Amino acid sequence: MIPKRSSFPPGFLFGAATSAYQIEGTQFGGTGPSHWDSFAATPGNTFQGQDGSRGCEHYLRWESDLDLLKDAGFDAYRFSTSWARVLPDGRTVNPEGLDFYDRLVDGMLARGLKPFLTFHHWDMPSALATRGGWQNREIVDHFARFCQTVYARIGDRVETAATLNEPWCISWLSHFMGFHAPGLRDIRATGHAMHHVMLAHGTAIAALRADGARDHLGLVLNFETAHPADDSAEARAAAARQDAIYNRWFVQAAMGQGYPTEAMEGLEPHLPKGWQDDLAMIAQPLDWLGVNYYTRKNYAHAPGPWPQTVEVPGPLPKTQIDWEIRPEGLTEFLVRLKRDHTGDLPLYITESGVAFADETDDPNRIAYIAAHLQAAQAALAEGVDVRSFFYWSLLDNYEWSLGYLPRFGLVHVDYETMERTPKASWHALREALAG
Ligand code: FCB
Repeated sequence: MIPKRSSFPPGFLFGAATSAYQIEGTQFGGTGPSHWDSFAATPGNTFQGQDGSRGCEHYLRWESDLDLLKDAGFDAYRFSTSWARVLPDGRTVNPEGLDFYDRLVDGMLARGLKPFLTFHHWDMPSALATRGGWQNREIVDHFARFCQTVYARIGDRVETAATLNEPWCISWLSHFMGFHAPGLRDIRATGHAMHHVMLAHGTAIAALRADGARDHLGLVLNFETAHPADDSAEARAAAARQDAIYNRWFVQAAMGQGYPTEAMEGLEPHLPKGWQDDLAMIAQPLDWLGVNYYTRKNYAHAPGPWPQTVEVPGPLPKTQIDWEIRPEGLTEFLVRLKRDHTGDLPLYITESGVAFADETDDPNRIAYIAAHLQAAQAALAEGVDVRSFFYWSLLDNYEWSLGYLPRFGLVHVDYETMERTPKASWHALREALAG
């Protein structure tokens, strides 16, 4: 059973999350090309070569999509703004793009939904990607200007604003593992991206504050439990390296704790020169931190170059895309963040969710939501200031390199007709939130 609203502290926010490239449809409203379009247009990069040109046609259907949030009884909606829609060539503003987000925010407010804005959820304009994207320090100022442009238009009405979604995905997943755009597998590119993405975050926060932004600025990070695959000292060391790269690099930098030693062992030679001088700019004071949590992974030692880690399948129940389901990891991260990194900073659970190959009957998703809400309650009981739970995602949508295959939504989308049908989980949440 999904815990009822009344079992949470007053003011705890329930919501659902989406991102621009995954739902809007890039063919509408004057969006420019992004590195996701060209990545998807390259054979082998995405499931059946699928891309976000159609998304879920949210650009056309946003009003009824907002109704789905309101009718479920949600308090808030986490959305992102497309960089390529707002600045199609990376420099010139597309007024149609800003108008769209203006209408969207007003539409949320009209429905009593608090807008949770994330400026960047991965669709970099191609013109900037061509110049090296996150590898080129130039991106830092482009990014700050993008955030300022969006904030100048809608910042007065959003509840919170986050610079980035999941810098680990932007840098490591995309430049080291090659799974996301730009699809590189190069450690030097990775080192540059991991530093520049954090410098872009800090620089944008400083620029927004200088523009008079309110104290509602944050950053959204993802966390994934890294366990040793066996009892060996080698596996423990591999898991510790993975943990440093994934779970500590970004939060430590943002909180002024420097980069973690186990990650610097491999990455330091590949960081841009003079990186030390940027640490202060990166560690801008924040008003909150967003936490995305999905799964845990198991690591063993691998021969070859650093980081010498290999993922080993684990024994826990799995989702449609083989992610192990382990709700207690959410509690552990919330407690650990407060203890080791964020202190009294408010934490918002900005994403947690599950993919199953379901239609509209989804008891497994209901169980997942119940267990993860209980995990949030366990952290609250330990004194962590947790303020929200955003389910990922409102709609079945374009899941990046996995295309339209995984279904994460509370609402089923028929990709032929784009018809939306609330699943049993949507109804169950509505019941838990009522009254
Ligand atoms: C997160 C992303 C989101 C979606 C979910 C499943 O890492 O922020 O866009 O891909 O995973």
